[in-house]
Order: sequence, then C-alpha cells, then structure tokens
Amino acid sequence: MYENKQIQNLQNLTQTLLQHNKADIPKLEAATTIAAELRAVIQYHDWLYYVKAASIIPDIDYDYLFDYLKAIEETHPELLTSDSPTQRVAQGLSDDFTTVSHLIPMLSLAKAYSSQDLLDWDETVKKLTQEEQIEYSVEPKFDGASIAVVYENDQLVRGATRGNGVAGDDITNNIRTIPTIPLSAAFSKYGIIRAEVRGEVVIHKERFKEINEKRAAEGEDLLANPRNSAAGALRQKKSHKVMERKLEGFIYQIGLATKTDGLDALGRLDDLRNHDDSMKLLYKLGFKTALKDEKDTSHVFQNIEDVVAYCNEWNEKRDDYPYEIDGMVIKVNDYKLQGQLGATGHHPRWAIALKFEAKAATTKLLTVDYQVGRTGAITPVAKLETVNVAGANISNASLHNEDYIKEKDIRIGDTVIVQRAGDVIPYIAGVVEKDRKGNEQPVEFPENCPSCAAKLVKPEGEAVWRCVNIDCPAQVEERIIHYVSKSAMDIRGLGKDIVKRFVAEGLLQNIEGIYELDYDKILQLDKWGERSVENLKTSIEASKSQPIYRLMIGLGIREVGRSTTRMLAGVINEVEELKDWDAQKLQELPDIGPKVAANIVDFFQNEQNLELIAKLKAFGVNTKKLETEVKVTGGKLAEKTFLFTGSLQQFTRNDAKKMVEDNGGKVISSVSKKLDYLVVGEKAGSKLKKAQTIDTITILTEEEFLAMLEG
Ligand code: IVH
Repeated sequence: MYENKQIQNLQNLTQTLLQHNKADIPKLEAATTIAAELRAVIQYHDWLYYVKAASIIPDIDYDYLFDYLKAIEETHPELLTSDSPTQRVAQGLSDDFTTVSHLIPMLSLAKAYSSQDLLDWDETVKKLTQEEQIEYSVEPKFDGASIAVVYENDQLVRGATRGNGVAGDDITNNIRTIPTIPLSAAFSKYGIIRAEVRGEVVIHKERFKEINEKRAAEGEDLLANPRNSAAGALRQKKSHKVMERKLEGFIYQIGLATKTDGLDALGRLDDLRNHDDSMKLLYKLGFKTALKDEKDTSHVFQNIEDVVAYCNEWNEKRDDYPYEIDGMVIKVNDYKLQGQLGATGHHPRWAIALKFEAKAATTKLLTVDYQVGRTGAITPVAKLETVNVAGANISNASLHNEDYIKEKDIRIGDTVIVQRAGDVIPYIAGVVEKDRKGNEQPVEFPENCPSCAAKLVKPEGEAVWRCVNIDCPAQVEERIIHYVSKSAMDIRGLGKDIVKRFVAEGLLQNIEGIYELDYDKILQLDKWGERSVENLKTSIEASKSQPIYRLMIGLGIREVGRSTTRMLAGVINEVEELKDWDAQKLQELPDIGPKVAANIVDFFQNEQNLELIAKLKAFGVNTKKLETEVKVTGGKLAEKTFLFTGSLQQFTRNDAKKMVEDNGGKVISSVSKKLDYLVVGEKAGSKLKKAQTIDTITILTEEEFLAMLEG
C-alpha cells in the first residue's frame, strides 16, 4: 500500500501538522495545501489502525488532526471533498433504502462438506477445462453480511447489500462509515475507471464481546452473534449507530473492472491475470483483504491435495481466528479458466465453499422461562433437553424477544436448532419443522411480570416487554448484582450468587442494604466463617471510597456506561449536582445525545433514586469527586504522565494507553516539562531528542515500562 519513502514523508508530515495551532485557520491558499496534507495523513493513520492494526500515534494526536481538518473545512467549505475522512458519517437519518441493481449478479457458492467433495469438484474442473493441473486460491469464508461497493473515477459512489443477488439495498451512507473501506482508491493508476468490489462486513470477535458487555452494563438487550449484528448494523437508519458497531469490511473479489477503453480488465491487464492478482491489487489500494501483505502467496496452491491440507489447518485454528468464519472458499485462480468454466444460474463453476462443521445441534424445547433484567426488560429463555454443541453442554438458550419467537414460529415441544458461535450465548436458530407431531404448543408470552406480577408494557417501536415496577424484586436483585459488579463498585466477595442467596435469606432487600448487613446472621449461614465475614466487611467498607464514576455506573442509569460516567465525573463535583442539569446542558457535553440525556434527567428526577443516593451518602459512600480520583484508586502510575514514541514491539499504542490509564496515569501527546516518562520503541526520532534535553523526563524502554507496571 505505502512505500517506505511515502511512509517516512507521512510520518514527518504528521509531526509537522501536530505542531500547527488548530485554532489558527489559514487563508484559502495555504488551507488548500494543509487540508490535502491532513487528508493524506489521516487516511494513512486510518489504514495503519484499521487495516494493519498497528497504530503509531496516540488517539489524542489523531483527534487533533481530525478536528483541525474539520475546522478548516468549516471555514472554507469549498475545500470539502466527498472522500474527506470527515465525511464518513452522513448527517441525520437515511431515508428508506432504495433498491439498486448489481452491475453483475451476486451469485452464491456451490458447497462442499468433505475433502472428498473437494476432490470430486477438482475432477470436474479439470474435465471442463481439459487442464491437467489447476492452480487454486483459497481464503476463509467470512461469516458476515455481503456487500458490493462501486468506485467510479477512484471515488466510492455506491454500496449495496447482496439482497436477492440481482438487486440489493442502497446502503452507501452506512458503508461509508466503515473505516476499512476506503472512500477513494487509486484504481485509475491501473487503468481502471470503474470497479465493483465485493466483500463481507464482519465484527471482530473481541469488539462484539465489548459491545455486548457495554450493552449489558447499560441495560440493553444483547446482540445474538457477530453475523446478525453486522447485517443488522448495515441496515440501521442512523449512520452514527452503524459506526458504534465497529464494522470491518473484508474484500474478497473484484466483481467487475472496466478499463478506460470500456473493456473488462479482468484477465486482460498484466496486474490482473488471476484472482490472486486482484487480491494483491486490492491490498495495494488500501482495502482490507485476507492477505497478510502485498507479497503473501501462502494461499495459492498447485493441486487440490494441498488445498485440502490447508483447509484442515484452518479448521483446527478457526476458533483462534479473530473473526467468525464458517468455511473456506476455493477459487480457480486463473481468470481465463474462470471465464471458460462460467456459471450456472446459482453459482460460478470456478469456486466452491467448503463448509466447516456447524457449531449447532438439535434438541427438544421443554419450556420457556422469563428473566427480568435490572431495567425490567423481559428476556425469554429456552429450557432445553441438555445437548452438546461443539464441546459444551447446553440446557438454556436465548430466544431474544417475543417478535423473534413469532418470526421463527418456535413452539414448546419443537425440535429446535441450537447454535453457538465463539463466546456468544447459545441461541435458538430455528425449528426442524418436519419433526412436528402436532401436539406442540405456541409460546404464550406472559402479560404479567413473573417476579412481581405487575402488568408488562411494550413501548411503541420497541421489541422488548418491560416490567415498570421499580420495586420489582427480580429487578432489585439484578440492580444489586450490577451495583457490586466489577465494572461498578467492585465489591469483591459479594458476587452474583451470594447476592442471590442473601436476597433469598431475607438479609438483603435493596442496594443501600449492602451497608447495613447483619453480619451475625451471615455467620450463621452454611459455609460462612469469621474469616469470610471479615473479608466481606473489608471489601464493602472499601467500596465507600470508590470514585464517583463507579458509583454512577452502579446506580444503573440506562445506557450510561463507563465512558459517559468518567466524562461526567470530570465536569461535576458531586453526584447530586446532576439533579439540576437539564437535557440541553447535558447534550452540550461530548458523546451525550438526546436519548442518554433524557435517561439521566429521568433518573435524577426520580425521588426514589435521590433517596437512594442520600442513604448511600449517609452510610459513608463517597459522592464527591475525589481530588484526584486516581490517587484514591491507588494506581501505581497515579498522577504520572506518559508518552510513547517510535515503533513499539511489545504492545500496541492502544494497549499501552489502557495500561497507563488502568494504573491511574495519563498519556499526553507532546514532549514538554509536563511529561514524566517517555517510552521509546524502535526508531524513535524527534520526541526522544527533545526529551533528552529536559532533565525531569525519565526515558524508558518498553521492557522497563512493563517492569514498572509489575513492580
Ligand atoms: S466469493 C460468486 N469469497 O459467501 C460468489 N464469498 O455463498 C463469489 N463469502 O454471500 C463469492 N467469504 O458474501 C467469496 N472469501 C469469500 C467469501 C465469500 C464469505 C460469502 C459471500 C456470499 C456467500 C456465498
């Protein structure tokens, strides 16, 4: 993608631009050059961060460049280009999606289920082409949502879903939010004026986990699996919501490429003799592909036996791969042979998908239970005849919500398909209808809360039924569990099961009850001794001096998680102050939209919530911002500032930042007297030089930094 010389230039340019004062917007002429430089630099850092997963500048520097570009474009709107990185998120709502025809139909793939199927297919290919030896290119079959993206004169002009293969939904605005999909790509350098690239939109398994953890912490429903989440996100009406899902696009094919003379480029250009050339070209143009680098040939094979061995290797390590894959796709590499083989109405004859054994099993649905979440959301849970799915015994599975049950027509007594993907909660993917005997019973969604019997309500436009009784025992129990959890007040020794037990024994009725537990009674409980009671007392006592952002998480304001509470803690002195804040004032803060603002206002308008805060305060729980919250958390790096420079070998910049912050320190963006430690990776440059001139800065290697954390 980038040559060494270019990289050096872009890195120097980055440092130069960081020296600019972004509040000083230059006059048009100078601004034209600077805007172009900023765009090039941001595009480069996007590529490093999203495609190569190897960012080299701190987020704060990146944000600085981004804001600077935005400010220039606001002052000089004539400089705005549609491929500017500031233009990824469309403003406001997308209209209903319009249908667009694909330039050529998006066919599906023929399927193989065993090595023998692949050997048979290889025979057919050889027969049809009359070749003795076939070269194959092999890649993972990404399990996400397919897209087709069109570039004209190097600009992204359209993005669409697969739809029925002939026509799909125009989701251009949403596609533009995906950072791994370039808004412009230099196809013209290769004599191509129009290209349609195809790929799969996916979510990294870790990102998916984080999204669900955040949703759980904020009382939202969990997403079923990465594939559904990716597909659902692509059809979101609000582009900024798409961005929150952190989608990535793997491009696996050039569907169509038209040369300047109007002819098809595939197979006709030196750079495009075969599929592998296409992948290399895509890589060079900045797309995310399955290739490791521009020269990667590990996926090209001269015979089917090697293909089979390679597929087996992938099957073994599939769980370690960071994205969900459900098989491998094998393609005849040579474009001339592809053309010769052609396609049936359904699939090309030059490719086949080897499906991995599904992580699914069938079993019987015994009954449906209803769980009440801390915000009152009711989740139906399938109780199953225990079944082993890919190595785990499963007897419960999520049914998501009432609409899901209706849509799949799931009935009690049905044989159902249980699916499990990665770390995801197992769920019911469907029903085996042919096994129906006629005595299956429809699932009757309850009208009343299974815990407190209050009438359930379903707000207009939502899929979830809720119990709105704030005193509902099941909700109270969940709220206590949330309050003590690791991400909130972190009361060790008072885990979920213990909370449940205390509630069941009548020892704990509400959050404030944590601070007036009757320890004598606890001592009498089975398995509790002096020592465990002492430990419990100590950790409850310690929770009283947690920073207020943790208290605010613990209070469980809807959709308000760690980043919002940390930000709030920065602008208030005392939690109670928030009762005087209105939605408008809240929305002036970064990252707070109308919905979150309304949730915060609602929470602090509610008398019961204010009483809870007052009671907690009376028990000695800290409600005031700590002078420096980091001081009390006792982080090893409390009040220390860090800067990372050069090419880091031991950890990424993001990880480094997290390590510093988790230990109470702060990462800053430039070398000055305010800096305590400069951590240097390989090839450190100007920052290191400057730091050497300031006596108070300690220079550390990566290893020394790690040792400092450990020691
Ligand atoms: S090639 C003519 N390569 O699998 C079709 N498809 O059953 C050529 N898919 O929905 C498709 N990873 O989106 C190809 N590496 C890969 C793929 C891949 C996932 C999807 C594709 C389509 C489905 C085809």
